[in-house]
This record gives sequence, C-alpha cells and structure tokens, in this order.
Amino acid sequence: MSRLPCIPIALTVLLLTACGTARRGEPLIGERRPPDAKLALGEQVFDRNCSQCHPGGESGLGPALNNKPLPRFAMKIQIRNGVGAMPRFSSNEITDEQISAVTAYLVWLRRQH
Ligand code: HEC
Repeated sequence: MSRLPCIPIALTVLLLTACGTARRGEPLIGERRPPDAKLALGEQVFDRNCSQCHPGGESGLGPALNNKPLPRFAMKIQIRNGVGAMPRFSSNEITDEQISAVTAYLVWLRRQH
C-alpha cells in the first residue's frame, strides 16, 4: 500500500529518460517554420486555399511557385482573377490582408529553397 505512489513516479522518470534525445527543436531536414505572425497567417491561407494545387509551393495540378521570382503584385492579380485552371478567389474567400500575408509567405518560402 505505501509503495503504490512510487509506481507512477518511477514510470514517469522512465518515460522521460527513455524519450529524451540530445537534440530538440528544428528538424535537421525539412521545412522551416515561418518566423512571424504575418507569415504564419500566410501559411494558413496557403494551406487552406492553395496547397492542394501547389503543394509546398511545388508543382501539382498547378505549376511550381518556388522556382521563379514572381512579384507579389503579379501573384495578387493571379489570385483575384484566376488564370486557366486556377480558380479566382474573391475578397469574400480571401481578404486583402490574407493576400498580403500569403504573397509574403510565398516570397519567404521561395527563399528557403
Ligand atoms: C484548383 C487548383 C489551384 C488552386 C486551388 C490554386 N492554384 Fe494557382 N495555379 C493553378 C494553375 C493550373 C495555374 C497555371 C495557370 C495558367 O497559367 O494556365 C496556377 C498558377 C498560379 C500562379 C502563377 C504561376 C506562374 O508560373 O506564373 C500563382 C502565383 C499561383 N497560381 C498562386 C496561387 C495561390 C497563392 C493560390 C491560393 C490562394 C492558388 N494559386 C490556388 C492551380 C491552382
């Protein structure tokens, strides 16, 4: 009876030591996280509206976005008007603030490549 409380503590210690690794934080390989709130919003907008056709800014149904220096105003025109198989997004779907965030995110994303 008096030993029982030790068991959860012992298990916790075991778990913590078993799962501990020398390195924490950023993965060695893979995507870097957006460094500020605007870029984080841009990533959200992108994941919700764009990544199904431009996965990670690479080509899918749509062309790659990471491999060319598209200016932000051109991306905005593309998003608002759509071209070919790309749908247009009205301000009800994506606000101006969200476009500003998503184009900033795409410029940032491209610089990670
Ligand atoms: C249904 C698929 C689809 C979705 C969703 C989509 N796109 Fe596209 N996108 C395309 C296609 C297809 C093209 C190529 C259009 C063409 O030129 O005929 C394109 C082209 C573009 C281009 C121009 C690329 C170039 O090479 O000039 C940009 C920038 C772009 N998309 C950004 C976005 C952003 C940002 C979003 C989200 C807000 C988005 N797209 C959502 C399919 C999509």
